[in-house]
Amino acid sequence: MVSVDELPGPKGWPLVGNLPQLTPSLLHRQFDSWADEYGALYRLGMPGRRIVVVSDPELNKEILRDRPGGFRRQSAIESVMDEMGSNGLFSLEGEAWRRRRKLAMPAFNATHLRGFQPTLEAITERLRQRWERTPPEDVRAELTRYTVDVTAKLTFDYDINTIEQSGDVIQRHLELIFPILNRRLSMPLPYWRYLKLPDDRALERALAALRQDLTAVIARARVNLPERPTNFIEALLLAQDGRGSFTDDELFAEALTILIAGQDTTSNAMAWLLYHLAGKPEVQQRIREEVAEIPSVLERQPYLEAVAAESMRLQPTTPLLGMEAVADRTIAGVRIPAGTWVIVNVQHAGHQEENFSDPNTFDPDRWLNSGPGNHRPDTSTPFGSGPRFCPGRGLAMLEIKSVTGMVCRDFDIALPAKAEPPGDRFHFAVIPTGMRLDITRRDRA
Ligand code: HEM
Repeated sequence: MVSVDELPGPKGWPLVGNLPQLTPSLLHRQFDSWADEYGALYRLGMPGRRIVVVSDPELNKEILRDRPGGFRRQSAIESVMDEMGSNGLFSLEGEAWRRRRKLAMPAFNATHLRGFQPTLEAITERLRQRWERTPPEDVRAELTRYTVDVTAKLTFDYDINTIEQSGDVIQRHLELIFPILNRRLSMPLPYWRYLKLPDDRALERALAALRQDLTAVIARARVNLPERPTNFIEALLLAQDGRGSFTDDELFAEALTILIAGQDTTSNAMAWLLYHLAGKPEVQQRIREEVAEIPSVLERQPYLEAVAAESMRLQPTTPLLGMEAVADRTIAGVRIPAGTWVIVNVQHAGHQEENFSDPNTFDPDRWLNSGPGNHRPDTSTPFGSGPRFCPGRGLAMLEIKSVTGMVCRDFDIALPAKAEPPGDRFHFAVIPTGMRLDITRRDRA
């Protein structure tokens, strides 16, 4: 058995360790190239902190399965979310998480999603009409409008409609909250507890206003709770068991959690997917044919699903999951003491020849045919794994299928002449930068 300090890893400096080598917005690339150099388990040092980065699909699963007993999300996540009143399913830990997960899961179930499907299609139709009127310039921003609309409608039945209008009050609150939340999660020190910058004060005002709006929705739902839920808050209220009910604070935390967890992840996944389709008319044509034959996103659409799996293999939107050991553990013969940060790199396995032949090529067919090459689908885990597996996967897949099917049916996607490949920045989700796509209306004659 070896200790963390005996693991290989990039050489750091006295006192500050590897801190000066880390570029927050490029962590996913740095961690991948260190995995190539130092292997499936390597160590990093930061002041007062041991860090192990794990990039092996089996070990990743072992760690992610060992929750909440052996590992938790990094404690900063819980404290930042707690301060914002949004300590919900994503950030709760231990028994509190276990209870909440059990109560919340029915709100994500297939029956509920099926009921939501007509609303989802109506929002996709709005996006289609908008793009028909004005070809999209910033595709990622446009897709974020879509996911904001879908998530707000699903969560509390509020029609934000950022696709057709701007300046909605709730949208303005949310636009303020997300960047500051991201910034706080990536700050080494919680400066805002000692010094409030104008942004931090604006955040407090936005949260207070959002709380007021959501509390009114919650109060209405409590009085007129239907038998079948029409939104996430109602589904949570219906799922309460006899042991106690959700307080308004808990419902607010869950609603905000869903709004946060469901937007950037899905809009960026769709942006990367459309980028992978650009300039591949034969792939677009196959999707077009499939959605003509199987129009409902509630049905299996094997080719479209293979395209989504392939895009998320090449660029998972959440490539790194930050964990912390809550008990002493041994992973692959390495002693991991409680308190060690363990970064689970879920991206690396998808890019390895031993798991996927010709890994840098976008080839959806690899998910459909068991050909002669390497294909280990279980090593690509864009939605995490174990008991904290993403509960929004079903909704995300419906959104991805609905938008991709609509775009391929009614538009052509191409790369503009002389377009540079997009950059990628890590902000919990990996965001494409400078992504330019030509999305033009197809002649339907
Ligand atoms: C393509 C889109 C999405 C991706 C790639 C994604 C990815 C992830 C990942 C990697 C995790 C962590 C899993 C783990 O720790 O093992 C997660 C957790 C979570 N996701 Fe998603 N997600 C997406 C969409 C959504 C949507 C649409 C919602 C809600 C409507 C959602 C809600 C959540 C929640 C609540 C958690 C925390 C679960 C828990 O800790 O028990 N996600 N997601």
